[in-house]
Amino acid sequence: MVTRTSNAALFAAQPGETAHHRTTRVLQCSAALVAAGLVLTACGSSDGDGSGQTGTTSFEGRGPITYVAGKDTSGTVQPVLDRWNKLHPKEKVTFIELPTDADAQRQQMIQNAETKSDAYTVLSLDVVWTSEFAAHQWIDKVPEKQFPLDKMLKPVVETGKYRGGLYTVPAGSDGGLLYYRTDLLKKAGVSEPPTTWAQMKADCAKVKKLPEAKGVSCYAGQFQKYEGLNVNFSEAVNSAGGTVTDANGKPDVDTAAAKKGLDFLVDSVKDGTIPKEALTYQEEESRQAFQDGKLVFLRNWPYVYSLAEKSKVAGKFAVAPLPGLNGPGSSSLGGHNLALSSFAKNKATALDFMKFYTSEESASTFLKDASLAPPYAALYDDAALTKQYPYLPVLKESIQRAVPRPRVVQYGDVTAAIQREAYAAVTGTKSSTQALKDLQEELQKSTEQ
Ligand code: GLC
Repeated sequence: MVTRTSNAALFAAQPGETAHHRTTRVLQCSAALVAAGLVLTACGSSDGDGSGQTGTTSFEGRGPITYVAGKDTSGTVQPVLDRWNKLHPKEKVTFIELPTDADAQRQQMIQNAETKSDAYTVLSLDVVWTSEFAAHQWIDKVPEKQFPLDKMLKPVVETGKYRGGLYTVPAGSDGGLLYYRTDLLKKAGVSEPPTTWAQMKADCAKVKKLPEAKGVSCYAGQFQKYEGLNVNFSEAVNSAGGTVTDANGKPDVDTAAAKKGLDFLVDSVKDGTIPKEALTYQEEESRQAFQDGKLVFLRNWPYVYSLAEKSKVAGKFAVAPLPGLNGPGSSSLGGHNLALSSFAKNKATALDFMKFYTSEESASTFLKDASLAPPYAALYDDAALTKQYPYLPVLKESIQRAVPRPRVVQYGDVTAAIQREAYAAVTGTKSSTQALKDLQEELQKSTEQ
């Protein structure tokens, strides 16, 4: 398949690229351009027949491989690998566990790719990294007909695509949810979870009057300066009717609507709705705070449900859609997809393992055992599963309506700018107006390179 792209995008320096790499890539690309008379997708290869051959990639070689992912906070990965290893004693998979922080995972994976190391075979990539890894040819194009993509939620499948080809296969999706303390709301005379930020604050004011709410704060998400802040900032902006980038991918964040979204966060920190400690929270710290009974409301991902059910707040919480400015808000689309490192050995084994790990059966196990959001549509309507997790329809809706973060090759620059400006605003070192103005300029610079 041949698609057109802009020369500017092709010749732009890419994140982490040295001058030498860029020159080599541009020369290779230029040769292809001359030969084909066309601009080839990321100077990549063609594919299409689902044969397991994608252009220059042949999925050959069998033997031991590695699976590389962020820290397994749910404890579900090793049992699945054990199952594979039992069935394939000569093609064992070893788990390489990276940090919990998404940015740190990305850094380590990029370093591995830049040295062309074969230490990492199958990568669990955050859904937002597909374009960057594909454009740099750090990962192989995957034969899409060999995966049951038609059974998966459409927006989730889209996260695996780059310029029309499939590069990463959905293993788990993620949608933001509002966890809330049913016991405290009930005692305060509130029967329904809030759908707007104003209602949430009003509910908190009522809860705060209860003697058992001593020391309890209203709301937290993830506000440390890392990928999770991008998620929370984007959700606030989108939930106020704003955008970070418009439908054509152009930055459009210096707007009144975006300011209303950011101001929800900024004002909430100022007035104590969001406790100061939350400025240091990633997913795990915020989950811990909720489980310790320190929060009435928490924005977090589905994995929290199963863990919180085994904690002090078990039976005292439920899940609702994220609130917004004038009604329900919208989540950022999260999740992880499997990719095959271009520099890996034993690619035939790797492809089989990817099929095993991303199968509906594995997704069902991840959901049952650890409340991880499946990519497969049917699991959200399964009677036994919805009995176990009554919020599954809410989650499906959250994922289907979720807003993707910018799908750009320069993802590292884009997310760094968002994190920097959002953090300056929530910590009060910059006004929200100035932060959005600066962010618009920075995003324009990095996407126009
Ligand atoms: C979750 C999401 C991922 C997101 C990350 C941010 O892991 O699945 O998409 O980038 O959280 O911390």
